[in-house]
Amino acid sequence: MAHRPFASSPYVVGKSALAPAEPHIPAEESLCPVVSHDWVNAEYKHLVVDASPKALAVRPGQFFNLLCPSPDEGELWLRRPQSVYRIDQAKRRIEFLYKCVGRGTYGLARLKHGDDLNMVGPLGVGFSIDPAWKHVVVLGRGVGLATLAPISQLAAENGIGVTAILSARSPEFVMAGDLFARVGEVIGVLDTDGTSAVDNVEAILTRLIAERRADAFYTCGSNRLLQLMKRVGKARGIPGQVAMEQVMACGLGPCYVCVRTFEVDGRKELRRVCIEGPVFDLQEAVGW
Ligand SMILES: Cc1cc2nc3c(=O)[nH]c(=O)nc-3n(C[C@H](O)[C@H](O)[C@H](O)COP(=O)(O)OP(=O)(O)OC[C@H]3O[C@@H](n4cnc5c(N)ncnc54)[C@H](O)[C@@H]3O)c2cc1C
Ligand code: FES
Repeated sequence: MAHRPFASSPYVVGKSALAPAEPHIPAEESLCPVVSHDWVNAEYKHLVVDASPKALAVRPGQFFNLLCPSPDEGELWLRRPQSVYRIDQAKRRIEFLYKCVGRGTYGLARLKHGDDLNMVGPLGVGFSIDPAWKHVVVLGRGVGLATLAPISQLAAENGIGVTAILSARSPEFVMAGDLFARVGEVIGVLDTDGTSAVDNVEAILTRLIAERRADAFYTCGSNRLLQLMKRVGKARGIPGQVAMEQVMACGLGPCYVCVRTFEVDGRKELRRVCIEGPVFDLQEAVGW
């Protein structure tokens, strides 16, 4: 049978045929029933959906472009990108952890148990792991912690030790602390007691390097922390990856809304975060 280049209708979880159509296309639009959707604090929500076989193939660091219901009378045209927070293969579910910041995410927050979430994905390039690594360090802040959770889980499943440095304004905003604690050591650093200061985080990184617990760096969610890991990684020859966040439109490559500047061998390069990322080499990221 000749392949059609594009799917003509979404995959409806629980209703569409079990064998996914068009196996040569890695992403698809799917309608996913909401299993649960709860506030974890005043700003963040945890969303769990039943997922299609293609969605379940998502890799840590990849994302879905979500069609958010409008929170008001107006239309909401563009989808909103959210990286995968947890992949539950046993229950065939995908989880998101997101912060409500504007119309899209406040609209998304209205979805309730039994509603369908329309998502396109998995999209983009995710994190990679070198099996030779024995111990990695993840360093994130805010919603960046949601993006770093699945790579920490994957590293642990591959027998790689994980130290997670979780930066937040105050204790109630240390996201996913329990999930990180299940896969490795957690070090919380806060604005309220000053431990999130760059000098202190640098001292923690230096200690981990001295203890040979830093074969690679992963970061997301803070320009300040990206610059720190980039500087320390360069000085100490430690490879690293960063998941970048950028306002997007199509999420698929053609619109160029998500272009950012990168630096490769001293040359400036423009790259699309949605399709060439969102995960990039730490030393090539310029930050913002
Ligand atoms: C690859 C990727 C993965 C992401 N994963 C997560 C996640 O796991 N959890 C999470 O909470 N958020 C995540 N984000 C950010 C999320 O996409 C934005 O918060 C969301 O699109 C905002 O939509 P809105 O309509 O609610 O807000 P808007 O009204 O569009 O914007 C409100 C504020 O959020 C900022 N904003 C809008 N879009 C983005 C964006 N794409 N990135 C950063 N800031 C933005 C705007 O500049 C503005 O200050 C991710 C973004 C990208 C690109
Ligand atoms: S969002 Fe359209 S090219 Fe990246």
